[in-house]
Amino acid sequence: MTRLPKSMRREAPFGAEVTELHPAHNRATMNRLVVISNRVPLPDQGPRAGGLAVALDGLMEKRGGMWFGWSGIVSPNATSTPVKVAHHDGVDYATTDLTAEEHDRYYNGFSNGVLWPLLHSMTDLIQYDRTDAQIYRDVNLRLAADVQALIGPDDLIWVHDYHLLPLPAALRAAGVSNPIGFFLHIPFCTPETLDAVPDMAELLRGLLASDLIGFQTEGDMANFANCAVQFCDAARGPGNTLLVDGRRVLLGVFPVEIEAREFAAMAAANARKLPAVRLRQSLTGQTLVLGLDRLDPTKGLLQRIAGLRRLLETEPVWKRRMTLLQVAAISRKEVGSYRALRAALDRESGNLNADFGEPDWLPLRMISHGVDRATAAGFMRCARVGLVTPLRDGMNLVAKEFVAAQNPADPGVLILSRFAGAAQQLDAALLVNPHDTDAMAEAMTQALTMKLAERRERWQSLYGAIENRTPLAWGRMFVAALLRGAVRGGGRLELVENEDHQAMANAG
Ligand code: G6P
Repeated sequence: MTRLPKSMRREAPFGAEVTELHPAHNRATMNRLVVISNRVPLPDQGPRAGGLAVALDGLMEKRGGMWFGWSGIVSPNATSTPVKVAHHDGVDYATTDLTAEEHDRYYNGFSNGVLWPLLHSMTDLIQYDRTDAQIYRDVNLRLAADVQALIGPDDLIWVHDYHLLPLPAALRAAGVSNPIGFFLHIPFCTPETLDAVPDMAELLRGLLASDLIGFQTEGDMANFANCAVQFCDAARGPGNTLLVDGRRVLLGVFPVEIEAREFAAMAAANARKLPAVRLRQSLTGQTLVLGLDRLDPTKGLLQRIAGLRRLLETEPVWKRRMTLLQVAAISRKEVGSYRALRAALDRESGNLNADFGEPDWLPLRMISHGVDRATAAGFMRCARVGLVTPLRDGMNLVAKEFVAAQNPADPGVLILSRFAGAAQQLDAALLVNPHDTDAMAEAMTQALTMKLAERRERWQSLYGAIENRTPLAWGRMFVAALLRGAVRGGGRLELVENEDHQAMANAG
């Protein structure tokens, strides 16, 4: 069993926190938050990459917290990987390495070769292997055993994403009785699709050991509930609840948000910095169309190139007048479908430029290394058109960031896939079906020719949908609902009710 460093031991008896109602910002009065995710953004890895890490840090700094997960390190020969700990700004970080086999089978094989395409409803990309599935379950059991020794009696546990579907049940089996919340950052598929992968019912049962399960959209939540009913003998309870094995599991929709005002300021500042200035200079008068994605089969990158090809075929007037800068940052490159996509993208972007390029102009600049967040924000502000056209996406924060980055006096136009979770909120964007190549080309024309008045009107509506929401409020809403779910599920009523009220009051 893992030995606890002193700073991480939680010795206050449960009752000690219940006796009085304290101000919400007093860390000692609130249940500590334990976040468990595959990746852990360690403080020594530089500035926080995204709003989510900032939000979870923010929550944990207030109430005290611990973040547990994979260190990002693969130990080639290790068979047992001890837990390493660090402490920063009121938050403990506990990580464990993966062995080469675990990384290959749990992360590459099952998480990203099976669950990722399955839950995005892209079953043709699934590469199922029974041993990968077994090692995925084993890694979840190991992580549960590693972290349970670090969990105190009053902690709230918040598990993130598809790598850890069976973790809630694994934690219960390891003796953890604390409230457990789970948030799925990616979509959830229909029962017919879920059936493509063997033994998914067992994984869902593992997930159903949570008190609260959160989703990005109503559609994802409905799909999950249908699967739980069909495959796990769950029954629908009152409100958004499921009844499983005599327990109540609360479901909820919590769309992930960005810090819009902060991102807007970062975009304005970075639009004046060298990378953005050089980009603008290099355009020599052409209009910038921008795509910023991980190189991932769900992102619809080939369909985007097809749309651009159709635009140039049907409206050659756009030659020399626009350029698509597509950042497709290499990701998960050991997974077969990602390698195949890279090859296809290289081929298609080469063909497009060869077919339509001129000696002094190319329609597409495709780069496979990422740009940092600040530079990306500056690029977004320089773009007249943002292309966010995934085939399926849980939320897609780039869509929200693109809106936030715009100059309100002269905003760019967002072309957004209706299959991204963000389309639920950002319905003033030009919504497209990325499979419809003609519609993609038409949307590009519409965006490139849109008059200032319409651009402003659409942008105001888009910005209005995101400006008063923050990742921190998102996190608080989830924690508040977790406390509610734990109460309904028969959890620790006295403590959680008090805190629930505080959290709801603060979740503005
Ligand atoms: C998505 C997933 C995250 C994941 C991220 C990057 O946003 O929802 O859980 O961390 O992609 O992918 P990676 O495989 O590099 O962690």
